[in-house]
Amino acid sequence: MTTASPIPALLPTYAPYPFPIVRGEKDRVYDNHGQSWWDFYGGHCVCATGHSHPTVVKALAAQAASLLFYSAAAALPVRDRAAEWITAFSGMDSVFFCNSGAEANENALKVALLLTGRKRLAAFAGGWHGRTLLALSVTDDPKITEPYADQLVSTLRMPFGNLEALAEADFSDIAGVILEPIQSMAGIKTASRDWFAALRSKCDASGTLLIFDEIQTGMGRLGTPFAAQFYGVRPDVITSAKGLASGVPMGALLMTAAVASRLKGGDLGSTFGGGPLACAALLATVEVIKAEGLMVKATAAAARLREELTGSVVTEVVGEGLLLGLRCPHAAALKKHLQARNILVGGSGDPTVLRLMPPLNVSAGALLALITAIHAFVPEQP
Ligand SMILES: Cc1ncc(COP(=O)(O)O)c(C=O)c1O
Repeated sequence: MTTASPIPALLPTYAPYPFPIVRGEKDRVYDNHGQSWWDFYGGHCVCATGHSHPTVVKALAAQAASLLFYSAAAALPVRDRAAEWITAFSGMDSVFFCNSGAEANENALKVALLLTGRKRLAAFAGGWHGRTLLALSVTDDPKITEPYADQLVSTLRMPFGNLEALAEADFSDIAGVILEPIQSMAGIKTASRDWFAALRSKCDASGTLLIFDEIQTGMGRLGTPFAAQFYGVRPDVITSAKGLASGVPMGALLMTAAVASRLKGGDLGSTFGGGPLACAALLATVEVIKAEGLMVKATAAAARLREELTGSVVTEVVGEGLLLGLRCPHAAALKKHLQARNILVGGSGDPTVLRLMPPLNVSAGALLALITAIHAFVPEQP
């Protein structure tokens, strides 16, 4: 006799939407009944060029038909081109390709430990960097870090954006300091240009590698290629993933010549990293961002949201470019209200902040739908 298994075939991870998504186009996704949803969540900040952009789809189809995969055991022209384009776009000198955000951060932190010979890392309260062990060491999220507390690397944790705390911190034994230039999961927290400059100076003085986790802030989202340009600071390493290849899994470690010149063949490696499909998608992504002026569009969309949400239930729009937080005392109810009107937004670790991270080419129609729905929201009185 067989009994129904209580274990789902697909292990649960996040709480999913109450409907499956079967198709996406530009700034919308479609459920299995053909209903469309404005996607201000962007598949979690991934769909920089919008869903299934035809240029990306065409590049992928052509690459799949010509060479689906070969590892770094062989030189691939498409990989060489992807390396040239992404280093030029980011203003960095060299790139190592991997497959995800956590893998990029794990490698960046390994590089810091390797190059300095030091044993400690530094990070910031509220920072979120991924689920591998070094990435967890620098992540401030006890519910996912505590089970591994004994396996994590010692990390100095400072308040984000605080000049006095930074001045007081001792970096003499710190291999690398990692930060999200805008803390996303923490509720879209920003820091001043002065603080970024002070952090750069402190790393220079102590020989500590400065690592920008640009897994959300990169690929044009702030209106500049990376947050490094937005804040006018050149880190030693930038990590990228999410929007890097428009949703094809890809991570990258972008580094300065000074860092790259101290790494030798074999220090880093990955079977799938820099595969031809991901590289073709990266090339198409950068092409679309430039050709369609997506950085300018992102800045304009953000300005419209800021202006038109003033006077609504949203008390403040925080963040930069299209990495925005809507501060609202009734955030959970507002999220439900928007979902009931077929608008997807993200929550955050701050119960009063909803996150917007839509495609950079989010349409005027989507913005109007969101703005109209927010103005129509009437919170229930307690
Ligand atoms: C800032 C940041 N860093 C790292 C990661 C980890 O990326 P991945 O899920 O691709 O491993 C995330 C994922 O949400 C992130 O937002």
